[in-house]
Amino acid sequence: MDLMPRIEQALQGAVAQVEAAGAPRRLAAAIRYAVFPGGARIRPRLCLAVAAACGEDDPRPADGAAAAIELLHCASLVHDDLPCFDDAATRRGKPSVHKAFGERIAVLTGDALIVLAFQTLAAGAAARPDRLAALLGTVARSVGAPHGIVAGQAWECEPRVALADYQQAKTGSLFVAATVAGAQAVGADPEPWRRLGERLGEAYQVADDVRDVAADPALLGKPVGRDAALGRPSAAEEFGRSGAIHHFMNLVAQAIEAIPPCRGAAHFRALVQMEAERLLPAEILRLAA
Ligand code: IPE
Ligand code: IPE
Ligand code: MG
Ligand code: MG
Repeated sequence: MDLMPRIEQALQGAVAQVEAAGAPRRLAAAIRYAVFPGGARIRPRLCLAVAAACGEDDPRPADGAAAAIELLHCASLVHDDLPCFDDAATRRGKPSVHKAFGERIAVLTGDALIVLAFQTLAAGAAARPDRLAALLGTVARSVGAPHGIVAGQAWECEPRVALADYQQAKTGSLFVAATVAGAQAVGADPEPWRRLGERLGEAYQVADDVRDVAADPALLGKPVGRDAALGRPSAAEEFGRSGAIHHFMNLVAQAIEAIPPCRGAAHFRALVQMEAERLLPAEILRLAA
C-alpha cells in the first residue's frame, strides 16, 4: 500500500490555502519551500498506516491528521534551524529556510505552518465532528508544553535534563501523535497504538544522534557534528557511539513488539524494519560491532 500519493496530495491542498491571491509572495514561497520536496514523511505514513489497520471508514479525518502532523514537523525544522536554536545552514539537501528567505520570514513560516496544521486538521474532520475534539487534544499536546516539541526545545535552555525526557518531548511526542491520531481519525481506541509511537519516536531520535556523529552530511542533507558543538544532550554523548547503536536496536525491537494484533501487522513490521535500515544502514551498524 503506497501512502505517499495521499500524503503529498493532502499537503498540496493545505499549502495551496496560503498561496491564495493576496498572500505575501515571499511568505507563501517560503511555506512551499519548507514543505516540498519532503523528507521521509515518516510521521504521516505512520498515521495513515494506523488508520488503515484500524479499519478506515472515511479517509478525510486521517488525511487531515497526517498532513497536520507533517506540517507541524516542517514548522519544527524551520524554527530548529534558526541561528538562535541550532544555526543550521542546510536542511533536506538545500539551504535552510532562513538562509534562503531571511530570519524574519523563517520565523513567520514556522508560525504559519503551525496555524495551517490546525486548520488542516479541522477541515479534515469537518464531516466527522465527533472525532475532532480528541484529534485536537492529541495533536496540540504533541507540539506544546509541557510534553511536546516546544517543551523539548525549551529543555535546551535548562541546566539539566534527563536524555529520555528531552528526546520524548522534542521527537517522540509527534510520533505518538501520529499513531494515536491515526486510530482516533477512524473512531478506534488509540491506546493500543501509543507504545509503538513512543518506542519508534525515541529510536528515531537516538538514530539521529548517531547520524550526527557517524554519517556523511552530503547524504543526510543537513550538517553533522552539531550536537557536540552546541552541547546538546545526545544518545551518542550519553552512551558512546557503540552504546547508542545498541540502544537504537533495542528500541526498534521494542517498537516491533508494540505493534498490536491487527490486519496490517506484517505491513507495520516491514515499515519499522525498513525505517530502521534507512536510519542506520549496515555500514553504521558495523561501527558498533
Ligand atoms: C529530523 O526528522 C528531525 C528529527 C526529529 C530527528 P526527519 O529525519 O524525520 O526529517 P525529514 O522530514 O525526513 O527531513
Ligand atoms: C529534532 O532535533 C527535533 C526538532 C524539534 C526539530 P534535532 O536538532 O536533533 O534535529 P536535526 O538534527 O536538526 O534534524
Ligand atoms: Mg535541535
Ligand atoms: Mg537541529
